Amino acid sequence: MTILGIESSCDETAAAICRDGQILSSIVSSQLIHSRFGGVVPELASREHEKQLNLIVHEALIEANITKNDIDGIAVTYGPGLAGTLLTGVSFAKGLGFGLNIPVIPVNHLEAHIFANFLADPSLAYPFVCLLVSGGHTQLWHIKKMNDYELLGETRDDAAGEAFDKGARIFGLGYPGGPEIEKHARDGNPKAYNFPRSLMAKDSLEFSFSGLKTSLLYFMDDFKESNSLTKKDIIASYQQAIVDALVEKMKRAINKTQVNTCIIAGGVAANKCLRDSMETSFKNIQILFPELSYCTDNAAMISYLGELKFQNGETGSLNFGVNPNLKLG
Ligand code: KG4
Ligand code: ZN
Repeated sequence: MTILGIESSCDETAAAICRDGQILSSIVSSQLIHSRFGGVVPELASREHEKQLNLIVHEALIEANITKNDIDGIAVTYGPGLAGTLLTGVSFAKGLGFGLNIPVIPVNHLEAHIFANFLADPSLAYPFVCLLVSGGHTQLWHIKKMNDYELLGETRDDAAGEAFDKGARIFGLGYPGGPEIEKHARDGNPKAYNFPRSLMAKDSLEFSFSGLKTSLLYFMDDFKESNSLTKKDIIASYQQAIVDALVEKMKRAINKTQVNTCIIAGGVAANKCLRDSMETSFKNIQILFPELSYCTDNAAMISYLGELKFQNGETGSLNFGVNPNLKLG
């Protein structure tokens, strides 16, 4: 079975081809236009998708060495995300599906992030715990089997990706903030300054990052770089505070569920400090991360999950809509 995946939930226009669980091509075009605004401008994002979608899909077909007539179905992100950008992708997918007389499969973006881990290890077995850390979400899930997901905890305010993005803005770095903070933290001392780790009460599986961001904001007001405390040290310490909170809650989720596999999903999963800390913190637990290009938004994960949904009979009629606030589970 051959599935075309389309992703346009935020500022990446992406298309991919999945055939029998294998990714034949994955094309991602990141919209650079937003960097000068320090965040995504929804209207600009929709217009960019509109311009790019046809080209990107065409490129995905060429790289997979197939034509549009070889596609059996089209999987498309229908939420969560920005209403306008989702609508661009879904309308495009419906038009193409209608023209080719093939089904269109609505895919939940969050679920697809989780399933990107099956691309990293096809032998990944249920049940497992998933830490889903993206620009808009920070959640811990107990994944029992496909379509059977229990939410263990989530953030009360900012998502971890947002903490990276807002922190980067305070440091005067670019957008998206995660990769920028990671780069500048590399030579810094993560123990130089002790930023607060929130919601550490004994059993809590919830997260909170807004206090950390405020504490950075106040700290930077009076900060003067010196030989004993550099900006890189502060960036590294800030990153470490985010990572420590994620690792601690993951530890608790593993204790609670007694699973022996945990996976990390979403853009923040690309962070090397998080990867290293997870790996050193859990000795007898299998820890899985998607490969770097499948951590941030991509259509490979959409096409892969779309194929599973198709095989499960979960194809949509053409009258499904977008859902910017779509939840999982
Ligand atoms: O999953 P994603 O690409 O989009 C959403 O679904 O939100 O996640 C984007 C988030 C951004 O907040 C970005 O700063 C963060 O992932 N991110 C990272 C890294 N790469 C992307 N955060 C930390 N370290 C990274 N290397
Ligand atoms: Zn995402």
